[in-house]
Amino acid sequence: MKKISKAVFPVGGMGTRFLPATKSIPKELLPIIDKPLIQYAVEEAIMADIDTLIFITSASKHAISDHFDPMPDLREKFMRQNKIQLLEKLDTLPLSITRVFIPQGQPLGLGHAVLQAEAMIEEDEYFAVILADDFIVGDNSTTAELIQVATDQRAATISVEQVPEKRISSYGVIAPDTWTGNFCQVKSIVEKPSVADAPSDFGVIGRYVLPHKIFDYLKQTQEDKNNEIQLTDAIQGLVDENLLRAVKLSGQRFDCGSHAGFVLANLHVAMQNEELKETIVEHVNNV
Ligand code: UTP
Repeated sequence: MKKISKAVFPVGGMGTRFLPATKSIPKELLPIIDKPLIQYAVEEAIMADIDTLIFITSASKHAISDHFDPMPDLREKFMRQNKIQLLEKLDTLPLSITRVFIPQGQPLGLGHAVLQAEAMIEEDEYFAVILADDFIVGDNSTTAELIQVATDQRAATISVEQVPEKRISSYGVIAPDTWTGNFCQVKSIVEKPSVADAPSDFGVIGRYVLPHKIFDYLKQTQEDKNNEIQLTDAIQGLVDENLLRAVKLSGQRFDCGSHAGFVLANLHVAMQNEELKETIVEHVNNV
């Protein structure tokens, strides 16, 4: 299989749950303490040896491209002042990494966003998809883990984790075949099932490695009742071909598309810093 070297970042959503912040700031630029979600996602891709980043954007998301631009004037100033730590913070993306920005046109769903990357992916190529609002902490790059299984199995891969019953109806849920280590073949996938209809408690999270043929399935996928094209519906085509494996998430994930997940992610990262931890514990003890 050709080396997997491209990652698609769909950042064209409206982020309505984070209004009014998302009137002018893309959701993916909201920070965990001081680093935007999209930068964590890009770092995960680079750890997986990805060298081409494809952002699917909406009209108001120029700030994402600005975030990854070099800032020569500020860089020179910090150099003169010998502020090495600040210099490191300015370098958000090595210039050796190719970045491509493709407008989605209209926010017609995640599947529609991924479809916009078609011209960038060759016929025999697999590519990663990373949703920055699924924030993952852990020792390994989840994308690297998915690429490993995809390469070994010559199949598409998705990341899954066990989801509590009360939240199962917000997820795509898989019917797993027998697990071999951390992965399994997927027998079926159901978008947002009721608890009774859910084939397991393994929910799909925002990391995928997909083949070029996903674009054919996306083009055949009907819009849902909200006029959106869902990626999960197209992935069902890969399941029918026995071409999908699920990989258990090894890290800890926070759904930063929701207020609770975003707050917990910030708290989790803050608690790793001794000074912040002390302040938080003191505060919590007093509320
Ligand atoms: P969400 O389902 O979280 O939608 O998208 P959203 O619009 O960003 O947020 P809410 O629900 O209105 O608050 C999951 C991912 O898919 C991208 C989003 O940017 C996010 O990374 N997406 C979604 C697109 O790129 N285009 C779309 O049309 C929809």
